Amino acid sequence: MIQKELFDLGSSPITTLLMQWYGEHKRELPWRETCDPYHIWISEVILQQTRIAQGIGYYHRFTKRFPDLQTLAAAREEEVLKVWQGLGYYSRARNLHQAAREMVTRHNGHLPETYAELLALKGVGQYTAAAVASIAFHQPYAVVDGNVYRILTRLFAIEQAIDTPAGKRMVAEIAQSLLPAGNPGEYNQAIMDFGALICTPSQPRCGDCVLRESCLAYGTGNVASFPVKERKSKIRNRYFHYFHILHGNHTYLQKRDASGIWKNLYEFPLIETGEAVDFLQLEKSDAFRQLFSALPGLHISHALTLRHQLTHQLIHTCFYRVTIPEDTLFNPPAHLLATSHEALHDYPVARLTHKYLETI
Ligand code: ADE
Repeated sequence: MIQKELFDLGSSPITTLLMQWYGEHKRELPWRETCDPYHIWISEVILQQTRIAQGIGYYHRFTKRFPDLQTLAAAREEEVLKVWQGLGYYSRARNLHQAAREMVTRHNGHLPETYAELLALKGVGQYTAAAVASIAFHQPYAVVDGNVYRILTRLFAIEQAIDTPAGKRMVAEIAQSLLPAGNPGEYNQAIMDFGALICTPSQPRCGDCVLRESCLAYGTGNVASFPVKERKSKIRNRYFHYFHILHGNHTYLQKRDASGIWKNLYEFPLIETGEAVDFLQLEKSDAFRQLFSALPGLHISHALTLRHQLTHQLIHTCFYRVTIPEDTLFNPPAHLLATSHEALHDYPVARLTHKYLETI
């Protein structure tokens, strides 16, 4: 039923009002000052899971170190991860790097221009393909991100849950039909800015909203009920105990294996427990004995407690500082890598470890 009414909304007042609003309130962002597809791609990958305020610094840092596809493709993965450090969701950096290599070998060192070819690149999903195709190559693909889900479900009071295929399809179709024939990239950025500045998740600024009169959720006083979700996401609690070992001029790191979110990043020796445990319990565990094999003269202090929220995990972390007397022979487990205290800062580490390193 909605479909008929939406026919050719691309020339509808909604599209026009959004574009006018954008003309007056557009945010000045560094990737809006370039037409270079490589820079636009980098910005969109950074912004997939990062707030704009944090993304700007990383965008400058990344594009300064890797100013074009060729430089990125020629870099070592570890270097790319190091520049990404602190931003989280490291698979984005690994995928950027692999995709750059792919483009150097298969696309003559350029970003491909079609949506289908962009979508085939490592780490490029529907959102990124639509963003790059529209912003860099002016092609008519509507982006559907969290902002778009929120704005469109409110405007059209869509009760269908957005985490169902039917809900996703409905929003994607409306988004596509709202796209103006000219300037799809500007329109896509307009709707995202509108979601970030006006139609926000909590306390939306309906008083300043130029679409208020056409908004069905506003009309019925139901803005806070949209978007509807079927499932509340389940958060998994994890308990990490990290040991920053000081043994003369040595400390020890381990490299995470090639699976999971932090693959190939470095971290301090870790004991993970299935539930919250205090140090006395930890000390009695087999894992602790395996790590320190009843060494005499250990001095252990509790250095930092952090809670780190990921999309589906809450990581409760304690960092312990363990001093082993210099004259004590320490035979670390084989998977540990000895390094100096100064070199600690040269390894790519996850945001969690980075936060600890900032305190020492
Ligand atoms: N979020 C992700 N990419 C964006 C862009 N180009 N403009 C505004 N918000 C965004």
